[in-house]
Amino acid sequence: MPTAYIETFGCQMNERDSEIMAQLLAAEHEVAGSLEAADVVVVNTCTIREKAEQKAFSLLGRLRRIKERRPEVVVVVAGCVAQQQGGAIRSRMPYVDVVVGPQEIYRLPELVDQARRRQRRVATELRPDFAIPTLLPDLRRGHPHKRFVTIMQGCNNFCTYCVVPYTRGREISRPPADVLAEVRHLAGGGVREITLLGQNVNSYGQDREDACSFAALIRMLAEVPGIRRIRFTTSHPKDLSDELVACFAEVPELCPHIHLPVQSGSDRVLARMNRKYTAARYLERVAALRQAVPDIVITTDVIVGFPGETEEDFAATMRLLDEVRFHGAFSFKYSDRPNAPASRFADKVAEEEKTRRLAVLQKRQEEIALARLREYVGQQVEVMVEGEGRGPGQASGRTAGNQIVNFTPDRSGLRPGEFVSVRIEEACPHSLRGKEVSPS
Ligand code: 5AD
Ligand code: SF4
Repeated sequence: MPTAYIETFGCQMNERDSEIMAQLLAAEHEVAGSLEAADVVVVNTCTIREKAEQKAFSLLGRLRRIKERRPEVVVVVAGCVAQQQGGAIRSRMPYVDVVVGPQEIYRLPELVDQARRRQRRVATELRPDFAIPTLLPDLRRGHPHKRFVTIMQGCNNFCTYCVVPYTRGREISRPPADVLAEVRHLAGGGVREITLLGQNVNSYGQDREDACSFAALIRMLAEVPGIRRIRFTTSHPKDLSDELVACFAEVPELCPHIHLPVQSGSDRVLARMNRKYTAARYLERVAALRQAVPDIVITTDVIVGFPGETEEDFAATMRLLDEVRFHGAFSFKYSDRPNAPASRFADKVAEEEKTRRLAVLQKRQEEIALARLREYVGQQVEVMVEGEGRGPGQASGRTAGNQIVNFTPDRSGLRPGEFVSVRIEEACPHSLRGKEVSPS
């Protein structure tokens, strides 16, 4: 059998898409041991920031050289770069055989077949009435206990810095029955934790009459026997409903963790980003979450150096970080993206200034994150075992709040997927350390 290799960049949505592509290819391909040895190479690309796109293009450069040595290799570019730059790839990269956008991945086997018959293919249609197919996940491959479940694709928000509406199109939700069938299938196969994926999960269902709200979907999935933990990503602060906040308090399976990208602490910048909330409104939502679950873990994304961001705007972001005290934050220097309106905004912030602001922010956020982790010392937490820990005899796993815990087991034969109680003894920069406590 020919072999296939998939390299994935970008978000969890891309990771899930890569699993789907792997499953589709598995009918006629074995998994290749390395990219160099594969007969089919798929590069699943991301274009969210300039850096992400550069990584994809540098890998494509490597593939060009492989293709010169082995012309029979089928090279596939998938994902958001494919969607956005399909035409340019076709004209400038003759060694790429197939370009396939996020909505078209289900046609991958057919496109690869055609490429073998020396037809170059570009499949980048984006239809607003696209129905996301259900392909029940293959339980023999992928993580045995935790999985991603895509509940919707696309985005209707048009933040001015963001490329996603142009690469993944408008919001399309899967029918609740399809999501339920997939989750039941996963739970039946031993999966205990699911992460519901969408660019803006809070508006799940709003595009179709037969759907329920996101909160109702969570309540329904929590009833599936075997499912112990439910997470989701990403939610937009403007759509974080009281109904969803109530789920955190009332649905034990919903993990006390939310990733809630704030992007900036300055109202002026937020307005120019088209985020449709103010810093005060964001803080109010954080307060509502903490009222529902006082120790909820809140993580965020921040952009520094958005066009026109002044020293004062940046100071407002720093104040917001100090006020919320996020458990974690991903922070980025603003970069222009093709089609995104902010790329045409004047008063761009100088690169050195962006670098400086990013360093200031990251230093402060690291201190806050470590202080947050220290709050767990002395506490007993529930950990889902994932595998071996650092050092001999150690195990590791994650808390419901998604923190990594390395711990000393109380007994031998601890298996991944098991839930254990761990007493936390120490906070490290990005993880916790502790000892299992025997159930009494
Ligand atoms: N420049 C920098 N960061 C960006 N992000 C999205 N678009 C850009 C851009 N043009 C960040 C946002 C988003 C995260 C996934 O990537 O913070 O939440
Ligand atoms: Fe990257 Fe956004 Fe596409 Fe995910 S949806 S791969 S983050 S551009």
